[in-house]
Amino acid sequence: MTSLADQTVLVTGANRGMGKEYVSQLLERGAKKVYAGARDASTIDTSDPRVVALQLDVTDADSVDAVVAATPDVNVLINNAGIVAGGPLLTADQTAIRQEFETNYFGPLRLASLLADRIADNGNGVILNVHSALSWISFGGTYEPTKAALWSATNGLRLALAPRGVQVVGLHVGYVDTDMVAGVDAPKSDPADVVKSALDGIEAGDFEVLADEVSHQAKAAPGLPIEAVYAQLAAQPA
Ligand SMILES: NC(=O)c1ccc[n+]([C@@H]2O[C@H](COP(=O)([O-])OP(=O)(O)OC[C@H]3O[C@@H](n4cnc5c(N)ncnc54)[C@H](OP(=O)(O)O)[C@@H]3O)[C@@H](O)[C@H]2O)c1
Repeated sequence: MTSLADQTVLVTGANRGMGKEYVSQLLERGAKKVYAGARDASTIDTSDPRVVALQLDVTDADSVDAVVAATPDVNVLINNAGIVAGGPLLTADQTAIRQEFETNYFGPLRLASLLADRIADNGNGVILNVHSALSWISFGGTYEPTKAALWSATNGLRLALAPRGVQVVGLHVGYVDTDMVAGVDAPKSDPADVVKSALDGIEAGDFEVLADEVSHQAKAAPGLPIEAVYAQLAAQPA
């Protein structure tokens, strides 16, 4: 993909946070149409006629099927919607853990699977899956496995769809200043900068975008000795 101009894009979780920013920057880059999916479609800004608001709950098969039926011309999928719902791995509510996986893993995978043929056939196909720096490093929560699983699925989807000319991109980033981490007191990236990096990466033909320094550090983690990544282990009895 050399340019997002004139492309037809579906963005999930498009009503706020980074999703809203994707819509705005895609319009600035000359997208032909942006299907903006949200659990409550009335929360989508449709002041630009190229925006088509669609009700989309990525955990609801009927809702996903309706969006698939409504988007025959889509060639770019941005799997952005995500939640933090669980908590510490040993104590989190089991229903919340499953909801986190439904939203962050099964939902994006279902959309990618159902739209893959059309994205390939329509030409200039792209799928962007939004991972996290936490795909590669754990803080002990239930969220991290959802993003690790999505990262792995992205790698598989890339292999499956490369022969059909579809660019499958994984986005990794640390904290970003959105509602999701409003309660976290730590340095955060500007959502506009992260989205710009992601869209620049698509247009550059990249397979992976590391949108901040934290992500570059996290990417190194799986290759390091475990005690070098998790320094707190050194203080524990063997
Ligand atoms: N913020 C960070 O620090 C950070 C860091 C790394 C990665 N990420 C990832 O970046 C993506 C965007 O996050 P954000 O920071 O923009 O979060 P956000 O501001 O909390 O927005 C999350 C979006 O996802 C939507 N959503 C949640 N559950 C959904 C469902 N079942 N079906 C459809 N949409 C759903 C929300 O819709 P409602 O308005 O209906 O709730 C909202 O539009 C997520 O995948 C997140 O995991 C975020």
